Amino acid sequence: MKAIHLYSQSGPDQFVFEDAPKPQPGVGEVLIRVHATSVMWQEPTWPETWKTPAGIERQHPIPGHDVSGEVVEVEAGVTGIAVGEAIYALTEFWRDGAAAEYTVARATDVAPKPRTLGHLQAAGVPLVGLTAWQALFEHAGLTSGQSLLIHGAAGGVGSMAVQMAKWAGATVIATASAHNHAFLRTLGADEIIEYTTTRFEEVVHDVDLVLDTVGGETLERSWTVVKKGGMLISVASPPSTEQAKAHGVRSVWFIVEPNREQLIQIGNLIDTGQLRPITERVFPLSEASQAFEQARQGHTRGKIILRVENEE
Ligand SMILES: NC(=O)c1ccc[n+]([C@@H]2O[C@H](COP(=O)([O-])OP(=O)(O)OC[C@H]3O[C@@H](n4cnc5c(N)ncnc54)[C@H](OP(=O)(O)O)[C@@H]3O)[C@@H](O)[C@H]2O)c1
Repeated sequence: MKAIHLYSQSGPDQFVFEDAPKPQPGVGEVLIRVHATSVMWQEPTWPETWKTPAGIERQHPIPGHDVSGEVVEVEAGVTGIAVGEAIYALTEFWRDGAAAEYTVARATDVAPKPRTLGHLQAAGVPLVGLTAWQALFEHAGLTSGQSLLIHGAAGGVGSMAVQMAKWAGATVIATASAHNHAFLRTLGADEIIEYTTTRFEEVVHDVDLVLDTVGGETLERSWTVVKKGGMLISVASPPSTEQAKAHGVRSVWFIVEPNREQLIQIGNLIDTGQLRPITERVFPLSEASQAFEQARQGHTRGKIILRVENEE
C-alpha cells in the first residue's frame, strides 16, 4: 500500500510518500480501509510518535491518528463491528496512523461514522472533537450558565469547543483574529476578542473556565481572568502548578484519549445538526508535506484533511 512515512521531527524531506507493508490487525482489532485522515502538525515532535509504550524506537512512523474509512477485516474478539461498516476513530498515538491506504485500530476505539458526514469531513472530528469533549465535560464538568474563555477558538479544538460549550448552555468568550470573528459568531460565540489588538486579560474577568489551545504567553496571561475556585485547562502546554495555587485556580493538562462512547455522542450532535466540523482545506495524501506546512503556519480554521485514494 502507499503511505506517508515520517523520517524526522522537522526539516526538509520529513514526509515521504512511498510503499509500506499493509498492516495486520491482531486480536480485538480491525483493519480499516482509509478514506481520509487529518493533519495534526505537532505530531512529528510528540514522544509517542517515536517510541512505543514498551520503549521500542519507531523508525519511520506513519502519522495521522484521525481516521474515517471502512472496516475491511475484523479479528477474533471483536464484537459489534462488521466488515463494510463506515466508521471514524481516534487511534492510539504510538501506532502507525492513517496517512496510508490501510490502518489498524482497537475495535473498542471505533465508532460509526456520523451518517450526515462524508469521510473527508468525518476525518476532521475525532481528535479535536474528543479533546474538546474531554476538556469541557470530563475535566471541567461544564454546566449550563457557566462562562468560559476559549483561546484559539477558530482552530481545530477551539471550533469544536465553542459549539459544544454553547450546546451545554454556557456563555462563550472567544479569542481570534479579525478574519475569524464572523465565522465564530456562526458557531455561537457570545463575545469575540481580537487578540492582536486587545489584551484579553483587560476585558475578561471571573470566568468559570479558560480552555487554552494556544499555550505559551497566552496561557501565562490567563490566570487572572479565572474566578477563584475556577479552572484553567490547557491542551497546548502544561500550566504551572505554582501559578494555579497562587491564583486559587485549579489547573489541568491532559492528553486526549480514544473513546468510542464519546464519539457516538459527538456523532449524534453532528447528525442532529448541533455540531458541525470545519474543514479548511483537503490535500491528497501524496501532498502531506504541503498540508503539514500549511497547518504549521498556525492559522488553520478547523482542520486540514488528507484524502486517501485507495488503489484497490
Ligand atoms: N493535549 C492534547 O491531547 C491535545 C489534543 C489536540 C490538540 N492539542 C494541542 O492543542 C493546540 C491546538 O490544536 P489545534 O489543532 O486546535 O490548533 P490549530 O487548529 O493549529 O490552531 C489554529 C488556530 O489558532 C488560532 N490562534 C493562533 N494564535 C492565537 C492566539 N495567540 N490567540 C488566539 N488564537 C490564536 C488561529 O486563529 P487566527 O487565525 O484567528 O489567529 C487558528 O484558528 C496545539 O498545540 C495542539 O498540539 C493537544
